[in-house]
Amino acid sequence: MDLANKVAIVTGAASGIGKSTADLFARNGAQILEIDIKFEPIRSGSLHASSTSPIRFHADLKSTYDVQNAIKLVQQKYGRLDIVVNCAGIEMPGNVIELSEESFDQVMQTNVKTVFLVCKYAIPVILESSKNGSIINISSDLGIQPIPNTDAYAASKGAIISLTKALSKNWAKQGLRVNCIAPGPIDTPLLHRFQNDDVLNFVKTTLIPAGRIGTPDEVANLALFLASDKSSFINGAVLTVNGGLLG
Ligand SMILES: NC(=O)c1ccc[n+]([C@@H]2O[C@H](COP(=O)([O-])OP(=O)(O)OC[C@H]3O[C@@H](n4cnc5c(N)ncnc54)[C@H](O)[C@@H]3O)[C@@H](O)[C@H]2O)c1
Repeated sequence: MDLANKVAIVTGAASGIGKSTADLFARNGAQILEIDIKFEPIRSGSLHASSTSPIRFHADLKSTYDVQNAIKLVQQKYGRLDIVVNCAGIEMPGNVIELSEESFDQVMQTNVKTVFLVCKYAIPVILESSKNGSIINISSDLGIQPIPNTDAYAASKGAIISLTKALSKNWAKQGLRVNCIAPGPIDTPLLHRFQNDDVLNFVKTTLIPAGRIGTPDEVANLALFLASDKSSFINGAVLTVNGGLLG
C-alpha cells in the first residue's frame, strides 16, 4: 500500500486518466477527494454525512470559489493533504487562423489556470500538513512535440511543463516535489474527440513503435510512483508515457 495514510486530490476524476488514477490511488490506501465538473453537485448536508473515501466533488476548477471550497472540504474531512494530481483538461483542435479568441481563452483557462488555482490553494495546506508532498501535473506529448493544428492545446500543455518546473524549485526543501507526466495517445473519450480513427490508425502503425495507443492505467501507474515516497528524489521531471512515440 504505497499511499497508506496519505490524502490525495485528483482532478478530472470522472473519466479517463483521472478516473484510473483515483481508482489506483484508492487501491493503494490513499484517501481521496475526486473533483470533476461532471460529478453531481452534492448538498452540504449530505457532504457532512459522507465520511467515506473517495468523496466525489462537483467543481468547475476555473472558478476560484469552487477550488477554495474543494480545498476547505479536504481540510475538514481529512485534516491533511499530501498529493495533488492535476488531470482535468480539454482538447482543442485547430490552428491560430481557425481558432477563435474565445476558444483560445477557454483552453488556456481550463488547462492552465485550473492548475494555477489548485496549486495556489492546495500548496499551503500540503506545506502545513505533509513532509512528503507530491504534485503531479498532466501535460501532453503535444506540449513537447506539437503536431499540426493543435496550436492552443499544445501551447496550454507547454505552459503546464514550465509551470511544473518553476513550482518544483520553490518548496523542495520542505519536501514538496512537483513533476509532470506527458502522455502520448491514451485510450480515453478525449482522444477520440480530438483525433478521428484514420489519424489514430496512422499514429499507431507508423509513429508508435509499440504499435498501439496506451491505456489510462499505464499513465496512472506512473502517477502512483510519483505520488509515492519511492520517487523521493524525482522533482521537476517531465516524464513521457508514449510507447516510444517517434518525434
Ligand atoms: N487521452 C490522451 O490521449 C491524452 C494525451 C495527453 C494528455 N492528456 C491529458 O490528460 C488529462 C486527462 O485527459 P483524458 O484523456 O483522461 O480526458 P477525459 O475527457 O476522459 O477526462 C478529462 C476530465 O476533466 C474534466 N474537466 C474538464 N474541465 C474541467 C473543469 N473546468 N473543472 C473540473 N473538471 C473538468 C472532464 O469533465 C473530464 O471528466 C487531460 O489534461 C489531457 O489533456 C490526455
